[in-house]
Amino acid sequence: MDNAIKLEGLVRDFGGTRAVDGVSLQVPSGQVLGLLGPNGAGKTTVVRMLATLLVPTAGTARVGGFDVAREAARVREIIGLTGQYASVDEKLTGRENLILIGRLLGLKRRDARARADALLEDFDLRDAGQRPAQTYSGGMRRRLDLAASLVGRPRILFLDEPSTGLDPRARRDLWERVRQLQAEGTTVLLTTQYLEEADALADSIVVLDQGRVIAAGTAAELKARVGARSLHVTVIDPAAAARALEVVSRVSGQTVQADGEHLSVPAPDPALVPAVLRALDAAGIDVAEMGLRGASLDDVFLSLTGHGAPAGNAAEDAA
Ligand SMILES: Nc1ncnc2c1ncn2[C@@H]1O[C@H](COP(=O)(O)OP(=O)(O)OP(=O)(O)O)[C@@H](O)[C@H]1O
Ligand SMILES: [Mg+2]
Repeated sequence: MDNAIKLEGLVRDFGGTRAVDGVSLQVPSGQVLGLLGPNGAGKTTVVRMLATLLVPTAGTARVGGFDVAREAARVREIIGLTGQYASVDEKLTGRENLILIGRLLGLKRRDARARADALLEDFDLRDAGQRPAQTYSGGMRRRLDLAASLVGRPRILFLDEPSTGLDPRARRDLWERVRQLQAEGTTVLLTTQYLEEADALADSIVVLDQGRVIAAGTAAELKARVGARSLHVTVIDPAAAARALEVVSRVSGQTVQADGEHLSVPAPDPALVPAVLRALDAAGIDVAEMGLRGASLDDVFLSLTGHGAPAGNAAEDAA
């Protein structure tokens, strides 16, 4: 299988900061790669280099076989990009935005209109298409962004945090679109902060931290490295927390993490849930909340780096 995207030792500096520090990865044609990482990991910087919006400081990247630095114009012909921040013209209607992009891509007026209307229909924006983009909700705007990146029928699509700011239903809809595109043979590189999203969409996942690849594999492989699920219990009465800890330790036979009235413990066997609930009930301890959780991005980080995902964008916060 040939690679639609191939990076070798890609580096990007901003002044003294190395935002991307030697990233190598590949995406076979027709596959979806999830680039996963916390704020400031370098995801957007990688995407911007692949979309020819930023020149690499060192290393190489090929998109559709073309070098992003030396053959940028060829790359632009075959890619679509939905940036992290909305890129449409606020004053224009959704339809006008899409027509404008079609015209910029060299479509005839009539073809640009037809393409715009088909995309509006596809993205449930037929009525909204007549209104200025500034009147759109976050979810509608995100859909318009995605539609805009598809006007040129790209073979390779970059989606930078496509579902950030979407409600759960809009997120599911967007996932459905991405799956459709994949079924049509489009290669997709998407960035996300959510393991769940990468898990739902990606054939393979690359985890970035501080500009470097710290893990790569399928969702199942990463989860296997992170370990199984954990059981979380919150008791109603903080005074009962110590007793609850005893009970959960005894029943699970594992080390329990405690944080006030909140307890968590590894739960490789889901049968632990009813067992713990019965034991707590027998001990007269009331439970406010209880459930199994799959590995989160935080768990991935903890397991891969020995530290949790840094909260927020440290570099930005400090600036
Ligand atoms: N134009 C720029 N000038 C200076 N520093 C930059 C610039 N763009 C990005 N950086 C820095 O590069 C690092 C990586 O940023 P990047 O935007 O690629 O991260 P990200 O993974 O997309 O984060 P987020 O999840 O917040 O979108 C950060 O430390 C950021 O401050
Ligand atoms: Mg980003």
